[in-house]
Amino acid sequence: MRVSPDAVLEDIKTGKFVSITGTQHTFFSLVTDLSIEVTHPDILLFPPSEDEPLLHSILKQKDMYATAMLKPMLMLGRDDRPMPVKTIPPHFAQVHEATHKDVALIFGDETDASKKYFNIGCPLDMKTPVCLDLEKLTERSNGIFGKTGTGKTFLTRLVLAGLIKNEKAVNLIFDMHSEYGLQARKEGKTQSFVKGLKTLFPDKVVIFSLDPESTRRRGGMPDVEVVIPYQAISVEDILSLEGELNLHSTALEAAYLITAKFKHDWLHQLLSNGDTIKEFAESIGAHPESIAALYRKLKRIERLPFLKPMNSGAYKHASVIDQMMEYIDKGINIVVEFGNHTSTFAYLLVANIITRRIHDMYVKKTEEFLGTQRKDLEPKKLMITIEEAHKFLNPQAARQTIFGTIAREMRKYYVSLLVVDQRPSGIDPEIISQIGTKVVAQLNDEKDIQAVLTGINNAQALRSILGSLDSKKQALLLGHAIAMPVVIQTREYDEEFYKAMGTTVTSVQIDEFMKEMF
Ligand SMILES: Nc1ncnc2c1ncn2[C@@H]1O[C@H](COP(=O)(O)OP(=O)(O)OP(=O)(O)O)[C@@H](O)[C@H]1O
Ligand SMILES: [Mg+2]
Repeated sequence: MRVSPDAVLEDIKTGKFVSITGTQHTFFSLVTDLSIEVTHPDILLFPPSEDEPLLHSILKQKDMYATAMLKPMLMLGRDDRPMPVKTIPPHFAQVHEATHKDVALIFGDETDASKKYFNIGCPLDMKTPVCLDLEKLTERSNGIFGKTGTGKTFLTRLVLAGLIKNEKAVNLIFDMHSEYGLQARKEGKTQSFVKGLKTLFPDKVVIFSLDPESTRRRGGMPDVEVVIPYQAISVEDILSLEGELNLHSTALEAAYLITAKFKHDWLHQLLSNGDTIKEFAESIGAHPESIAALYRKLKRIERLPFLKPMNSGAYKHASVIDQMMEYIDKGINIVVEFGNHTSTFAYLLVANIITRRIHDMYVKKTEEFLGTQRKDLEPKKLMITIEEAHKFLNPQAARQTIFGTIAREMRKYYVSLLVVDQRPSGIDPEIISQIGTKVVAQLNDEKDIQAVLTGINNAQALRSILGSLDSKKQALLLGHAIAMPVVIQTREYDEEFYKAMGTTVTSVQIDEFMKEMF
């Protein structure tokens, strides 16, 4: 596009949303790059000086100009039906800023009766909401990426609030830093807090706490205190820690040998035989060194108070997983708070144990539903949120662990993932290419940018847009749940948002309350 001499060049930014009026179609495009040009190189050698305004304005009419690179992402025919771009507008087609009507037409309207559209922000320099299609969102696994401090957690909380409010999926959130349940800190000049999901939707969210003390200190009552018996941990759960603990394959083989003999009780047996490793190894026919290595690495489990040995038989009754499943069946969302247990070790272990079992139950439920075709047996869509996703989905882990399976099977069993990560290049490329919708905030590392753009059509054009995002509260949306790639200014997570979500507690009250607590 050649920029008109009357336009204010600096108002045109990369990522801006514009429309090109062709003869038969309107092409919606993003500005991907800008440059200034001259018709003759001499102009640059002998530029008009400050006292030659006339010369300057004459040159500006024709000889000095700016061009913007546009990437058409979607086109509308005469019947206003959006379609993929298969042609180009002719010469001298006019380009305009997209109008509010355009935005609403393309991205859907939040007031739509289907309740499937959720406002997530506005295009750059505009005030009309861009909506995610929540129904499409739940059809695949999704990702929220961006380097640290760009607003990933805030974006995730927004999306989750949308899913909860409009009841488009049940959510299971592994909340490593306790930011989703009750309240979360908001960075800024003054210390302040924002509402968590339980505070916004008291009837639709329950908190499962691994650290009930910490939950209480923050003024909440956990709905359930999580205790996981050793007997519920299987070798597959330990597999997920292979990278984190630097576990050798011989140690894992030893774990299988213990399981062969002691079944469910394997971990308890291993940890209680710390002083007699040699005899223990002999009794199961394993190498003492492998057993010793396994013991050393898994000993950390004893320091996690929510993991407890229980005598066999009893563990089957008080199952946290069954409780979770009951809530999920009722459509109630679950936040698993880790409190002060913020180690990757605890996070990986617990998320794997819980997810593996929930997934097993979902597979059974789905099969039952498919077998009977009874509508009332259809499982509710479940979306599982994990932060630091590359730890779960790096190429090695993705092959072996439950999260890789879920991402690959494309919600065949009604379960999908919402992965949140600051280092997408750490995630298995095969998994990234399965991700339906991506919300990408600023990324600087070339490898990370490359990773999020794998399998995307307009990768080259989007690359420059990603490079120019603000360091906060801006994101590029692309994929299944969004009509066309677009850059947004993220919706503010504030009082107005709470109101839109239908709650009555004000943030002043929360602030006061929090100040008292700390
Ligand atoms: N939508 C929003 N509304 C209001 N404030 C926001 C929003 N997005 C980001 N912020 C501000 O940016 C800060 C950082 O956001 P956030 O904690 O979500 O970053 P992050 O990407 O999750 O960082 P980390 O990788 O460290 O977890 C917030 O504390 C808040 O002040
Ligand atoms: Mg975060």
